[in-house]
Amino acid sequence: MFTDSDITRTDSRRLLTATGESDWECAELMSGCECVLVNGGISKWTSLEDLLQKIEGEKVDDMAIECWRHEGKIPVATRDIERQVGGLFHDKGSTFNLENPKRRFGIVLDKSAGNVAWGWMVGQGPGKHGWSAMRANKRPFFRPVSLEPRLARAAVNIAAGTDEGHVVDPMCGTGGILIEAALTGRPTLGIDFDPVMVDGSQQNIDWAKVDAEVKRGDATRFELPKDTAAVVVDPPYGRNSPGDEKLIGDMLANIRSQNNECKLVVILPVEAGGDDLDEEITTDIELPGYEIKTAFGIPVHKSLGRVMIIAEASTQD
Ligand SMILES: C[S@@+](CC[C@H](N)C(=O)[O-])C[C@H]1O[C@@H](n2cnc3c(N)ncnc32)[C@H](O)[C@@H]1O
Repeated sequence: MFTDSDITRTDSRRLLTATGESDWECAELMSGCECVLVNGGISKWTSLEDLLQKIEGEKVDDMAIECWRHEGKIPVATRDIERQVGGLFHDKGSTFNLENPKRRFGIVLDKSAGNVAWGWMVGQGPGKHGWSAMRANKRPFFRPVSLEPRLARAAVNIAAGTDEGHVVDPMCGTGGILIEAALTGRPTLGIDFDPVMVDGSQQNIDWAKVDAEVKRGDATRFELPKDTAAVVVDPPYGRNSPGDEKLIGDMLANIRSQNNECKLVVILPVEAGGDDLDEEITTDIELPGYEIKTAFGIPVHKSLGRVMIIAEASTQD
């Protein structure tokens, strides 16, 4: 996303810092990240007065201020922050436009490490036009198996990167992966065995107003588009279910026999893990014919987690 800047983790789980100049607009398309806060800062939260000291007001026309929380509640009202920071900019001669602002100043209160971060927003942020508006349960066709858009988007981006070819989901279910691949402008194909899912995916694609093809087919036999850059798939999977393992093995054999260059990201349900959520993990899951590069633990809810596996076709048989 931001090849010209140095990215470092902070002690907050969902905040990174980037130094250097980059095309921050890439956040809109590529990332699945909430937004970038430009010309801003990050510090430990102490008090609203302290925050007001740190933020430099300036004169900006048609601006808005948005404050939101990550990971719990730091005891201060977001509305008070918006009002007081608004006052700071108002005193410099700024004008406000909450309906259709030209620029938005964002403030994130992060409980995981007690930090506050601020800056000019590039990207949608968390509000009503952001990720929450895209949640899987807002679509016309929803099933509990539906992947959340942020996870689907991350999987698509990791798999396809800057390659221009097709993104293919051979077991597309309700179409969560297809929507994210198509939203990022990639040619997209979905296959599912179940006609109800094919219909439902099509409804969701229409609802999202994106361009993706979905058709009925068998993941273990379908023909891969010649220019496939990445396969992203979330297959049925139960530990100790040999049927599921065979299905996954047959699907991978079908893909590999047609294209052993394309990237592969597989998302599998697992029992909810401990502290390793959102982090790189080791897994004993095997993907026949593929070499696992990395795997990440993904939190879902108390009793369910997922593992996202990034793999490439092995060079030896
Ligand atoms: C876990 S769901 C996928 C959910 C999807 N990622 C979503 O966001 O809705 C797995 C899907 O695999 C499909 N499936 C199972 N066997 C298949 C096969 N042999 N070929 C194609 N699809 C298959 C099922 O119909 C189901 O929709």
